Amino acid sequence: MALWGGRFSQQSSQLFTLFNDSLPVDYRLVEQDIIGSIAWSQAIASVGIITLDESNQLQQALTQLLNEVQQQPELILASGAEDIHSFVEQALITKVGDLGKKLHTGRSRNDQVATDLKLWCKAQGQHVLGLLTGLRQQLLLVAEREYDAVMPGFTHLQRAQPITFGHWCLAYVEMMERDISRLQDALKRLDTCPLGCGALAGTAYAMDRVALAQSLQFAAPTLNSLDSVSDRDHVVELSATAAISMMHLSRMAEDLIFFNSGEANFIELSDDVTSGSSLMPQKKNPDALELIRGKTGRVYGSLVGILTTMKALPLAYNKDMQEDKEGLFDVMDTWSICLEVAQLVLQGLQVNHEQATLAALQGYANATELADYLVAKGVPFREAHHIVGELVVAAIKQQLAIEALPLSTLQSYSDVITDDVFECLTIESCLAQRQALGGTSPELVKQAIAAKSKLNN
Ligand code: ARG
Repeated sequence: MALWGGRFSQQSSQLFTLFNDSLPVDYRLVEQDIIGSIAWSQAIASVGIITLDESNQLQQALTQLLNEVQQQPELILASGAEDIHSFVEQALITKVGDLGKKLHTGRSRNDQVATDLKLWCKAQGQHVLGLLTGLRQQLLLVAEREYDAVMPGFTHLQRAQPITFGHWCLAYVEMMERDISRLQDALKRLDTCPLGCGALAGTAYAMDRVALAQSLQFAAPTLNSLDSVSDRDHVVELSATAAISMMHLSRMAEDLIFFNSGEANFIELSDDVTSGSSLMPQKKNPDALELIRGKTGRVYGSLVGILTTMKALPLAYNKDMQEDKEGLFDVMDTWSICLEVAQLVLQGLQVNHEQATLAALQGYANATELADYLVAKGVPFREAHHIVGELVVAAIKQQLAIEALPLSTLQSYSDVITDDVFECLTIESCLAQRQALGGTSPELVKQAIAAKSKLNN
């Protein structure tokens, strides 16, 4: 039975019921709805709507219901209720009879659902924070192990300059740290309690909403009843935070897929996160990473979905807003599992040092070094750039690395070149030169890891 039958003389059509009911999605709010109802039963006792004894009876029955649905979650969907709020209220009435019918005094499903969803966001947000922190930690562990492992860095997917694998890891640590701070910020902003705002105009009972917010572990109550029941900024913000984080994960996945390819072969992914081909026996495919990259799309889709649903909605509650949960639940589930899988991939990843170093040695990744060498000998940079460009063309023609050309050939491009040039063209020298803050010199990478690890403790 619906909560609102009195005004209607005709039954809802089956099709409308199927269309309107949200239980198949919002059953996931059951704990939040019961906890919110317990707090509400205290609030209405505080203004004399029910006695303390009645409030205790309601709280006991609600706690019992919580245990029951934790043991047998299938009870919820089997009830056929319209939504999770109707399920909890009907179950309560079944337990305590007419007293259960008093619980909804002064409350609306509008402030109730807003409160439930914020409670859920707080819990899930904390869960994801833990996963983001874990992934950051895992990246630091790999960075520590591979702080001086040489590989080429790329621009335009062309070998550009040598970097270390540790330095690559630290780039993603930076991104994770921004994701963590964005999520913390979003969680801080959503930490206000809408309960006690009624349908839209506020509740008619002069209860202490500060105390009510505290009893639900919110930092404070919301301050405007219209806004309270129609605000879904937190759904948008969490989805946007997830979308940005997924963008980072998908870039990391893409880098690793390339590093793992037969063409690059800088890393080896472990068997436990790869799969085979049904036809080609030699294949070991990076499915885990491809799925992370692929699932990024659906998270973006949910973000655009909620933004579009909320666009131009008049104040206050509209049923359109019931569409907020499906996308958000999927966003948080997808984000969580991708973070866990990314961590698993990093745990088993091995760097092929020989191959990665070889790749860094090829492709003229030390050309900038030679230009800098000429600059140190007084040649203006633009001129040095041009000289090295011509020299690289000659080296390519002979299929030789710059450092493999005889000194006399190098000198034919610039007479400031002497035999100290070979020392400056080594990979070690290229890396060691990158000493300014943020650079890839192994020494700096080591220091950066130490500083970041200290932040953890
Ligand atoms: N199932 C609804 C939702 O998720 C609950 C709020 C219903 N409120 C209303 N006025 N019909 O949005």
